[in-house]
Amino acid sequence: MKFGQFDDVRKEYVINTPQTPYPWINYLGNEQFFGLISNTAGGYTFYRDARLRRLTRYRYNNIPLDTGGRYYYLRDHDTNDFWTPGWMPVKRDLDFYECRHGLGYTSITGERGGISVNQLAFIPLGYNGEVHRLTVKNTSSANKTVSLFSFAEFCLWNAQDDMTNFQRNLSTGEVEVQDSVIYHKTEYRERRNHYAFYSVNRKIDGFDTDRESFVGLYNGLHEPQVVTAGKASNSVASGWSPIGSHEVKLTLAPGEEQSLVFILGYVEVPEEDKWEAPGVINKKPALAMIEQFATDADVDHALEKLAAYWENLLSKYQINSNDDKLNRMVNIWNPYQCMVTFNMSRSASYFESGIGRGMGFRDSNQDLLGFVHQIPERAKERILDIAATQFEDGSAYHQYQPLTKRGNNEVGTGFNDDPLWLILGTSAYIKETGDTSILDEQVPFDSNPNNTATLFEHLNRSFYHVINNLGPHGLPLIGRADWNDCLNLNCFSKEPGESFQTTANIEGRVAESVFIAGLFVFVGPDFAELCRMRGLDAEANEAVSHINNMRATTLEHGFDGDWFLRAYDHYGEKIGSKENEEGQIFIEPQGMCVMAGIGVEEGLADKAMVSVKDRLDTKYGIVLQQPPYSKYYLNLGEISTYPPGYKENAGIFCHNNPWIMIAETVLGHGDRAFEVYSKIAPAYLEDISEVHRMEPYVYSQMIAGKDAVRHGEAKNSWLTGTAAWNYVAITQAILGIQADFNGLKVDPCIPAAWDGFEITRVFRGDTYVIKISNPGHVSKGVKSLTLDGAQVDGNVIPPVGDGAAHEVVVVLG
Ligand code: GLC
Ligand code: GLC
Repeated sequence: MKFGQFDDVRKEYVINTPQTPYPWINYLGNEQFFGLISNTAGGYTFYRDARLRRLTRYRYNNIPLDTGGRYYYLRDHDTNDFWTPGWMPVKRDLDFYECRHGLGYTSITGERGGISVNQLAFIPLGYNGEVHRLTVKNTSSANKTVSLFSFAEFCLWNAQDDMTNFQRNLSTGEVEVQDSVIYHKTEYRERRNHYAFYSVNRKIDGFDTDRESFVGLYNGLHEPQVVTAGKASNSVASGWSPIGSHEVKLTLAPGEEQSLVFILGYVEVPEEDKWEAPGVINKKPALAMIEQFATDADVDHALEKLAAYWENLLSKYQINSNDDKLNRMVNIWNPYQCMVTFNMSRSASYFESGIGRGMGFRDSNQDLLGFVHQIPERAKERILDIAATQFEDGSAYHQYQPLTKRGNNEVGTGFNDDPLWLILGTSAYIKETGDTSILDEQVPFDSNPNNTATLFEHLNRSFYHVINNLGPHGLPLIGRADWNDCLNLNCFSKEPGESFQTTANIEGRVAESVFIAGLFVFVGPDFAELCRMRGLDAEANEAVSHINNMRATTLEHGFDGDWFLRAYDHYGEKIGSKENEEGQIFIEPQGMCVMAGIGVEEGLADKAMVSVKDRLDTKYGIVLQQPPYSKYYLNLGEISTYPPGYKENAGIFCHNNPWIMIAETVLGHGDRAFEVYSKIAPAYLEDISEVHRMEPYVYSQMIAGKDAVRHGEAKNSWLTGTAAWNYVAITQAILGIQADFNGLKVDPCIPAAWDGFEITRVFRGDTYVIKISNPGHVSKGVKSLTLDGAQVDGNVIPPVGDGAAHEVVVVLG
């Protein structure tokens, strides 16, 4: 069942009912200021850090779900009827409802009783505020007198404290109101130099800033007493819960339409300019921001700029094929999600509360893969930030805090896959841009500016961190965990509630990871190549010999007859083996080892892929392992804490399905690669939205596996490495356009039935229009390639570098 449809021309997803199977959200903002907004106008807004600078309050895990947002109540003074255009929170039946989630904006329209209200929300580029344009139209044949009541509930900045420390924060709330602007200034009197404001571009008929006065102590947001009464109470908050609400009265002739521009903004004021009079905040910066959007034309202009911004980002890779679903994933929604994930890391979604996790070392490096071609400069900055949290021995903080950019001590280090992702992220940046100067940047260890080395040296330490930490079989030691955060082989936790990621581990130097071995062989060649590019041939050769050893070791000790083993545990026993009762086969080493080419010549890679298909595949995607763990295993950790079929315990972890897609392309299996792709790509799941439940335009981290009670149901949409890896799998491995150190490589691996497709790729400043045809109906193999009519040997387009458009004709066969 569908709950909406794609509008590919406007690059929007159009939702036709407010009662989607779960709130379907969108993100506003690209730089410093961000908002999350659902199809019923729920969500919240923050400046840079969702925990420490949250502007508006949101109640996670509330009943009803998705409470708190930007609500505009429409009250008809003739009938006393009131409602909200996004349906929530009043939930009055609407004669018409539509939500359009677009690139960086959301437009919600509701109509009832002869009035139509459109609520458009976006964050203009370079602006620290959400702009809401409300368009109210009289669709009836009679005159109408209505009031519009705005509503936003302020968060007292620190979202964690806001929801817990009531003995203090119910006494700290402060506001000011002047003209049509409500200022939220809690804690500004002391150490804060920032405040929020909520304005509207016309004279108001009243306001409220005290939640209890507006809503009523025993009422819900569906029946605020001010709206019920039809008159603002002009309350001024003092402690308790400050809110912002304006009342604007409108008289509309039949067919008449009026629009209002509301702004929910954030201002920082230098210490010496904080006050305009004792106790009165300096409003100048807010008024200047408000002035920028005084008129509809200002709003239209900013929307055009936003559209042009996205147009430019998306233009870097565009496909034209016969498959609409593929086109919309590749051209619009997957790169959009990659950008959001890059911006947010794992901080704020409807599943990540915005108060918990910092930026992940491994996560951020992988997010880069899907984003680096859009704004390489930002990728570069991110790489340098991440690398600065590495230690001298090559190990790394697992997470760092975005505001301070320092490693997170609470989570610490010891995830032994982490360092390798830095090589992958950095290589992706250099392949995209050709900019090797990044390798010469001086980067601190452990954020200490007095202890630095070149980024290249950081990569060197990453590479040798693996070699310096090998276990009894010569495979990499796993440490706290590898990619799978929940496979905790040295943890042995018995305390309820103890964190598997941070609790003290035993000093184990036995547990080894076949996955890290695969990752080492996968990223190692890039490191060797970077050595060569720097003229370090001896170093390159040494790296290659380590890689070859690791490949041999993996085949000797990491293969179990029909598939790759997962690991050896603390006792040196096999994990992910036929010999195990549960957890006999895992997806991660099959994907990563075959991506690395291990066992391809020997025919073992093929065997591994067959085993994946036979044992892990389901109609909704490939599960993480089989059979699931049915009880808690002290020696395995968190993986065995989840009920069978969920999360890392045999859920369909959408992050690693693309590794199988890529692995299948290594073997030339284009049909199978695309089959795996289309099983989990959201646009292909639109028709089963009632099962899948999450947004049909973005990936979720997990879909419940076949052992789960609710097989096929997704959770944790938006912020997941799934976005980047699926983007890599489809654009690079399947469609086959790959940035490489010395040019743009064309190496598709597609379903044999495809006749061809066309890709426009902006690469190092030039635009390549690549026409690929498949007359012989093969899956893989470039028979010929011409660049502007001239034959090119091999399948790498050498960068032209003239900033112009070039035609590339590729024939497969
Ligand atoms: C989550 C984490 C990621 C980890 C994965 C598997 O997605 O963010 O770092 O690799 O889970 O445990
Ligand atoms: C927690 C979650 C796990 C997730 C990990 C990410 O351990 O339980 O599922 O993958 O965090 O770091």
